[in-house]
This record gives sequence, structure tokens and C-alpha cells, in this order.
Amino acid sequence: MSRRRQIYEGKAKILYEGPEPGTIIQYFKDDATAFNAQKKGTINGKGVINNRISEFVFTRLSHIGIPTHFIRRLNMREQLVRQVEIIPLEVVVRNVAAGSLSKRLGIEEGEPLPHTLIEYYYKDDALGDPLIAEEHIACFGWASNEEMQDMSAMAIRINDFMVGMFAAVGIRLVDFKLEFGRIWDGDYSRVILADEISPDGCRLWDIASGEKLDKDRFRRDLGGEEDAYQEVARRLGVLQEDGPSEVADINLHRKLRGKK
Ligand code: TMP
Repeated sequence: MSRRRQIYEGKAKILYEGPEPGTIIQYFKDDATAFNAQKKGTINGKGVINNRISEFVFTRLSHIGIPTHFIRRLNMREQLVRQVEIIPLEVVVRNVAAGSLSKRLGIEEGEPLPHTLIEYYYKDDALGDPLIAEEHIACFGWASNEEMQDMSAMAIRINDFMVGMFAAVGIRLVDFKLEFGRIWDGDYSRVILADEISPDGCRLWDIASGEKLDKDRFRRDLGGEEDAYQEVARRLGVLQEDGPSEVADINLHRKLRGKK
């Protein structure tokens, strides 16, 4: 593709100006960070896999009526999406205690929660994305009451759908993070799902073995992150109709690691 204007480079993605006004190209990198970028590394092939997994999930979500920014996948590492004004919140949905919830409240990891929890974090790297209450969101005007209602209703529907989708392939959806954005039509705006949904922002545990199939492998130095991401993609069936080079790449990785 010819030279394009870069709009933003994040920790896992680069955003370029899209071909038409109101569109953006999301490029998925192999870079991985954790603990607010204090830990940095690479997960080989992650960008290719996350592009596919996110395409798959966003497409399925749009089929159940969730409005999303996804337009279409362009190539192995890029997708065309609608340009949105990102709402500066990370919306975390939890079904099972893990990660920062377990740490903060002393609940053992793996303990099922009595009901689904939605948490909000303020998206600000300098502050380390602090946990906030809905009161803070209203007080500082980060989102309106109506937007909060729309986001929480969507988060619950997304969770119900994704719990089933992953359970069908033997994966327990422990928790995940969502980001939403506004699209404007004159003075009127509405909220749509943005960013990505991939093993970078979900906790995915194999139902049978409890094995972690997500970015915790990288965060906690467990190793095998490439295989884990590939396993999620394979189970969802998103690596099957790939172009020859993509399959060859992935087969090569597996061969190098002594797999079939
Ligand atoms: P936490 O337990 O560390 O708060 O993470 C909850 C979920 O949110 C987990 O699935 C990972 C995801 N997450 C992100 O996608 N980005 C982040 O910056 C953090 C802290 C968590």
C-alpha cells in the first residue's frame, strides 16, 4: 500500500488514515506489553492471529445486533474500521475472579463470581489506568448517563454471547476488556464497540485442563504464548481458510517448536 498518514501508535496497534473520510486502518503488531508497558516483548504472529480473531468476534457480534466499528479485514495484519471518538474508559467484564480483582479483594483466582461484574477503568497510561466508579465518570463527564446505559447493556450482551461462543470450543471466558467509541451525526452521537477483542484483552482458560490461553502467559512468564494464541484461533476455526503463506508461516512456527 502507498504511503499513508499514521494517526496514532499504541502498544499493540498502529492506526492509519483510511481510504475514505471517517475510516481508519488498524494495523496489528506483534508487540506485547504488560503492567502499563513496564514489561515489553514480542509474541510472534500475534498481530496476524489477533486480526483474525477480532474480525471473527466483531462479525459475530454484529450479527446479534451489537454496533461495532469493524468494516472489513484488509490483509493479514490490517482491518478497515470506522473512525470513532474513543470514550476514555476500559470496560472490564468478569465472570470468574482473576487478576487485579483477586489481588485487590483477596479472592482466589478461579472462584466463580455470584454474578457478572462490570468495572470501569480510566484510560490514562500516566495514571496506570485506575479503577473508577460510575460516579467519577458522571462527575468528570467522561460519558453521559445514556452512554453508560448503552455500554453496560452491550457489555452484558457481549458477555452472554462470548461465554457461549468460547464454551462451545472448550474455553472458559474468565474476563475481558472492551472499549467503546462515539460516532457523530451532526449534533447526535451514538456509542459503538471499538478497539479489538483478542487473547490480549481476555482471560481464556481451557475448560478441561485450566491451562491459560491468553496474554497471562506473557504477563506471568509462563511461556508458550504463540501456541496459546494459535490454539484459540484454531478452535474458533479462524485459521482454516487462510492464504497459503499465512498457513505456511504458522505451520513453520509449529514445526520449529516440534509440533505436527
Ligand atoms: P485485570 O485483572 O488485570 O484488571 O484485567 C482484566 C481483564 O482486562 C483481563 O482480561 C485483561 C484485560 N486488560 C486489558 O485488556 N488491558 C489492560 O490494560 C488491563 C489492565 C487488563
